[in-house]
Amino acid sequence: MIDNAIDTVTVALGPRSYDVRIGSGLIARAGTEIAPLLRRPRVAVLTEERVAALHLPALEVGLRAQGISLQALALAPGEATKGWPQLQRAVEWLLEAEVERGDVVVALGGGVIGDLAGFAAAILRRGVRFVQIPTTLLAQVDSSVGGKTGINTAQGKNLVGAFHQPSLVLADIALLDTLPARDLLAGYGEVVKYGLLGDAEFFAWLEAHGPALAAGDRALRQEAVRRSVAMKAGIVARDETETGERALLNLGHTFGHALEAATGYSDRLLHGEGVSIGCQLAFDLSARLGLCPQEAPSRVAAHLQAMGMRRQLADIPGDLPDSAALIALMAQDKKVVEGRMRFILAHDIGQAFVTAEVSPAELRALLDAAR
Ligand code: GLY
Repeated sequence: MIDNAIDTVTVALGPRSYDVRIGSGLIARAGTEIAPLLRRPRVAVLTEERVAALHLPALEVGLRAQGISLQALALAPGEATKGWPQLQRAVEWLLEAEVERGDVVVALGGGVIGDLAGFAAAILRRGVRFVQIPTTLLAQVDSSVGGKTGINTAQGKNLVGAFHQPSLVLADIALLDTLPARDLLAGYGEVVKYGLLGDAEFFAWLEAHGPALAAGDRALRQEAVRRSVAMKAGIVARDETETGERALLNLGHTFGHALEAATGYSDRLLHGEGVSIGCQLAFDLSARLGLCPQEAPSRVAAHLQAMGMRRQLADIPGDLPDSAALIALMAQDKKVVEGRMRFILAHDIGQAFVTAEVSPAELRALLDAAR
């Protein structure tokens, strides 16, 4: 693949269909990409301070090249931003910036900014369009695509939000060059998730190419993002509001969200790290229940270890609550139906499925053994 070739994956949702553009240098051509969406040549950008310092000037240049001006609000970095106070601040700023119903909001940042800005756009004047410019691997392969937007509350993660699809996603692979190694590996947890849930051949490709991808190979990064997004686009097109198949994208997330809550959504555990530990636990549980061969969790563990990723509870610094408390946190999950927790388990690598057939005793035994 030529380094500067741009891939396009379409999320096919009828009149709300949109393209995910993937390649290096997209931020420089943001004006050209976004201009067809605009009714007047201005955009409001929601971003965070670290990202603004690194990438806002380039976005401004890219937009100005097409005569588009921008106003930007940079929020504090970190998961704590994804809550009521910053949502209020963002929405009021957008109103003060006189963003109209026909304007476009741009989310420049990782998953926190994408989710917050998307939700702000969803509720502003009963809904304005928005463009995602994801700056982390996690956001490029997962959160910027599919229209899930929202915030965390004291009761749990992502419990308040809306489905609001972006009008365009620009995944600039070159932006990943400035991503700290820990964030890149955390995002890679979501990439591995796609192979584990539905594409064994992709998982084998990651086993072969993951280390070079993490070391900085842009062509491999682009291919991993393209394949991940293509898989997600297909699932979202078939099940936009998660009445069925889309739940598979939550592989590892029930465990991961509980661990994130248990660590206070802090630097102790990044979202993608929770997902990689959660994927390992899901495969361990599948094998314990006799649903998948023991080789599957062993292979997952070998790959996560080879990548230097977090994969077990012991990799989380500090104390964790006991198993009963972790299970109570899992019970807050959005996948709970009529009080029954639903889990994404697997028959093998690439063969995930949803089940409510996991007893609290089995769960407790898994978590006790994992300590
Ligand atoms: N991140 C899971 C989903 O978008 O459905």
